[in-house]
Amino acid sequence: MAISNPALPMVRKAVFPAAGLGTRFLPATKAQPKEMLPLVDKPIIQYGVEEVLESGLDNIIMITGRGKNSIEDHFDVSFELERILAEKGKNELLAVVREISDMLHIAYVRQKEALGLGHAVLTVRELVGQEPFAVLLADDVIDAAVPVLRQMLEVYAATGHSVIAVEQIPGEAISSYGVVRVEPWDETRFSGPVFRVLDLVEKPRPREAPSDLAVVGRYILTPGIFEFLETTPRGAGGEIQLTDALRGLARHEPIYALRFQGRRHDTGDKLGFLKATVELALKRADLGAAFRQYLQNLPL
Ligand code: G1P
Repeated sequence: MAISNPALPMVRKAVFPAAGLGTRFLPATKAQPKEMLPLVDKPIIQYGVEEVLESGLDNIIMITGRGKNSIEDHFDVSFELERILAEKGKNELLAVVREISDMLHIAYVRQKEALGLGHAVLTVRELVGQEPFAVLLADDVIDAAVPVLRQMLEVYAATGHSVIAVEQIPGEAISSYGVVRVEPWDETRFSGPVFRVLDLVEKPRPREAPSDLAVVGRYILTPGIFEFLETTPRGAGGEIQLTDALRGLARHEPIYALRFQGRRHDTGDKLGFLKATVELALKRADLGAAFRQYLQNLPL
């Protein structure tokens, strides 16, 4: 069931920026999108899509680019595959395959130039229109009892303002993230502490980080963000950064940050990808026991 507050516009649309080149995973990503790399037996992006559905949204906008056709194929009906599976009586697999294409409505938009996350989000301005929307970065796979987007929708329903997910990151690793400066707002009412965001910096040097709270790839944004994206110049890495536009928005309307409950895996990083594979496999009913036994017998 969707979480909503009748006095507020509903969050219906979830945007997945997926136009990035995936250079960190070359050569695996030379001819296939990084979003399609499998974690156990599901492509990375499917974890995010399932999180959206489990959070009560079913309207997805994917921002893709060259070489990303397999994402569209994955979420489309595959008549040939379904026919072969049906003929062979492989009904369980048939159900798995059908479930993916039955899941939801997806619109695809092409980002023609790789000018950064902020630029990607700006390309969906027309499709999103004047309503709040979610942005999910598929690289961040979050294993949580309550889907993180759902946890964030609770904060949106209570405030009517933008909500970003944050996580404490110790030490120098903070420099790989957008980092927030915050003040406490509500410690008790939500799945984790909620802060009021005062400012944000994209990928600060460790000593310049305003806190140890990093932005992870989940955002609920009010449509006001588009005006700031329009005028955001290139920032860190020469790219138009969503963090910089949020900085402008924070001066005009409240933004909240939720320290969510859940375990995040950075699957955009090789070590993070390996850890995610191991942890998710260990949790699987069909594989977990055998995989645990195998790991325990490795001469480490
Ligand atoms: C992006 C955002 C950054 C955020 C991160 C979370 O960076 O720009 O603010 O902290 O995602 O994963 P990227 O990882 O694309 O460099």
